[in-house]
Formats: sequence, structure tokens, C-alpha cells
Amino acid sequence: MSRVALVTGGTRGIGAAISIALKNSGYTVAANFAGNEEKAKAFEAETGIPVFKWDVSNYQACVDGIAAVEAALGPVEVLVNNAGITRDAMFHKMKPDQWNEVINTNLTGLFNMTHPVWTGMRDRSFGRVINISSINGQKGQMGQANYSAAKAGDLGFTKALAQEGAAKGITVNAICPGYIGTEMVRAIPEKVLNERIIPQIPVGRLGEPEEIARCVVFLASDEAGFITGSTISANGGQFFV
Ligand code: CAA
Repeated sequence: MSRVALVTGGTRGIGAAISIALKNSGYTVAANFAGNEEKAKAFEAETGIPVFKWDVSNYQACVDGIAAVEAALGPVEVLVNNAGITRDAMFHKMKPDQWNEVINTNLTGLFNMTHPVWTGMRDRSFGRVINISSINGQKGQMGQANYSAAKAGDLGFTKALAQEGAAKGITVNAICPGYIGTEMVRAIPEKVLNERIIPQIPVGRLGEPEEIARCVVFLASDEAGFITGSTISANGGQFFV
């Protein structure tokens, strides 16, 4: 029986590449999405990966959504916390809503998603939790006090939970993508992207979603059981920890 993997924000951008790579590696994959129903349905039709709609910033929605996934496919053994949003603004212009939305999705979303699967992983003595943080959680980024705070929080969450899961066969790791060529990054003003960001990337280009997906497949594998609490930086040399 193939292991069941659940990918949040799994129908677009990096998440879509992760869902597809896990499926191609033999996992039974469920892809969660929150917003764009049309794109999600097209993704489902194209890939054969079932999609499930709920908002990761809502705890009860996560409990109910995970129950629906588990009823359809079986217990979640690999959880990829990928869903994330940006509400970029210089701090002096940032509104409380921009702060709260990003913290609730990008940080609290990890609690909301991991908590409902954690007891099952402990009971089965196996689990993989892979959190998609960001280079900007490591180095900070102007215009992203909210996002950088949430993504740095994801790293603390990863390291604390790794210690709790270790004796129970559960690994918890993070990946920090750099700037990847997704809609989220393409939404940055072109002038900022071309003149300020790409010149800071030593490999001279944006990353590909598949380059992050490959890291997830590695961490999800049974053979990666000795790796926990770690962070893989995949950023084209832009920042070394
Ligand atoms: N790196 C370097 N400089 C930056 C920058 C960045 N990422 N973002 C903005 N700046 C600079 C601008 O070039 C500008 O400099 P000048 O005044 O010298 O031209 C200055 O900061 C102010 O920027 P704006 O004129 O654009 O100010 P604004 O108030 O109109 O907009 C902003 C501010 C919304 C933050 C906008 O600049 C922006 O969207 N910047 C991009 C921020 C960013 O890097 N977001 C990452 C999104 S991708 C992501 O989050 C995925 C991931 O994990 C990596």
C-alpha cells in the first residue's frame, strides 16, 4: 500500500509541483486548496490527484478537511505544509489585517494542519511533516515584516516538534525556498524583481518549483528517517545559514 501524502496549497505553484512529484514517486496524494476552484479542478482533471477545499487558517476546517481526506484515502502519513500567502507592504504602511492574514495562514496554519494528524502519526509510529518556510524567514525581507516573522516562526515550530516526534518515528523538517518562478514571485513589481532581487541570486535565475519538490520527495522517504529538525535551503546561493 502506498503512503498517503497531503499537500496544502497543493494545486498551484510550488505546491502543485510537490503534489505531482510525490504522485510520481508512488504516494497516494491529496491536494488541499483554499481559493481558486477553477484552477484546482483543472489540476485534478489533468493529474488525477484529488483536490480538497478548506482554509488552513481555520482550525475546525482543517479537522474536517483532514477527516474527509482520511475517509477517502486512508491515514495521512506525509504532511506537507506548503500553503502560504503574501500581503507585502512597507511596515509603516502595513495594516493589522495584512499582519493577521499572513500570520494566521503561514504560521498558525502549521498548527492547524499538524495538530489533527499528529496523534495518528504517534499511534502508527511513523510520520513525515515537511514545512515550506522561506529564505525570507531566514534573512528577513523589507516589505515583508509579516511574512518573515511567520516563516521564521515555522522554523522554530519545526525544531520544537522534531524533538517531540523523534522517539515516535516522526520526522519534522523545513525547506526554505529562495525566489522561485511562481505567481507569488511574478506578482512582485517587475522593476524590483529584475533590478533588486535577481541580481542577488548567484546562480542568476529564479528557481523552478520542481527543484523544491525534489527536496520534499527526499525528506518524505523512509530512508530519510535520521534527518529531523533540519532546514534545507534551496535558494541559488542567495543566502547561507
Ligand atoms: N529587495 C530589494 N529592494 C527592494 C525590495 C526587495 N525585495 N522590495 C522593494 N525594494 C526597494 C525598491 O526597489 C524601492 O527602492 P527605491 O526607492 O530605491 O527605488 C524601495 O524598496 C521601496 O519600494 P517600492 O517603491 O516598491 O515601495 P512601495 O511602498 O510601492 O511597495 C512593496 C513596497 C509592496 C514591499 C514592493 O516593493 C514589493 O512588493 N517588494 C517586493 C518584496 C518582496 O521581496 N517580496 C517577496 C515576495 S515572493 C515571496 O515571498 C516568496 C518567497 O518566499 C521568497
